[in-house]
Amino acid sequence: MGNGVCVAGTDTGVGKTLVSAALARRLVRLGCAVGVMKPVETGVSSAVPDQSDAARLMAAAQVDDSLDGVSPYRFPLPLAPLSAASAEGQRIDQDIIMDRYAQLAARHACLVVEGAGGVLVPMGQDWDFRDLIVRLRLPVVLVGRVGLGGINHALLTLEALEHRKIPVVALLLNETQAPCGAVQQEQQASTMAVLRDRVSVPVLGPLPYQSHADCAWADAVDAAADSLPIRELAGMVLTRGAEKS
Ligand SMILES: Nc1ncnc2c1ncn2[C@@H]1O[C@H](COP(=O)(O)OP(=O)(O)OP(=O)(O)O)[C@@H](O)[C@H]1O
Ligand SMILES: [Mg+2]
Repeated sequence: MGNGVCVAGTDTGVGKTLVSAALARRLVRLGCAVGVMKPVETGVSSAVPDQSDAARLMAAAQVDDSLDGVSPYRFPLPLAPLSAASAEGQRIDQDIIMDRYAQLAARHACLVVEGAGGVLVPMGQDWDFRDLIVRLRLPVVLVGRVGLGGINHALLTLEALEHRKIPVVALLLNETQAPCGAVQQEQQASTMAVLRDRVSVPVLGPLPYQSHADCAWADAVDAAADSLPIRELAGMVLTRGAEKS
């Protein structure tokens, strides 16, 4: 297996793509030949192909790999992977994902692989995304919300990863909504403090809210790539890679 990380989430919509793209961007700036992968993506719209997660990751990493290689399973319905695949009469094959992963790992010094949904999301009749992480043998960067509810989701996911002895590089907490008041600021500070106190993995963040993420995605990725949590994360990823080789 090559070097890299799997960017998993405590849920869908927590900022995995923003973090993966910003991390890839940062690694490119540091001179790393980074590749990206989004093994399974649902809700892919042919009307806005450049807004898919896979396309956004490829743009951030500036790679010329094929879309099929980076993202072998792409479904139009915005359902959980097993359901989206079944609706198309398809089955997600772990061996095909592993084969594409090996091809990308041979072309790049480091891979950033974005998960789908949360770690226990079903991918096949008898396997889920966590099984794929185990098979890829990649450490996880866990992305969670820094807002209210973030503590429980992060602790549940870390427990699920620990249960299968999956190493965690860091828990990165993301400001998915614009901060609007003192109460919200206090909730964020307490989420950070409680998690730093309770978990044994590094807790990074919060990754600041990027107000232009929806209208100017590439600028938001650039800004996130310059943020302290992403700079710290990139340093951790590179250190891990150096220790491995
Ligand atoms: N720090 C942030 N600032 C502003 N908007 C954000 C931030 N993080 C996430 N978002 C927005 O929240 C939405 C979900 O983010 P993103 O697509 O990165 O989540 P995800 O975990 O990759 O979701 P999925 O499970 O669908 O892959 C997007 O519209 C994104 O622009
Ligand atoms: Mg995503």
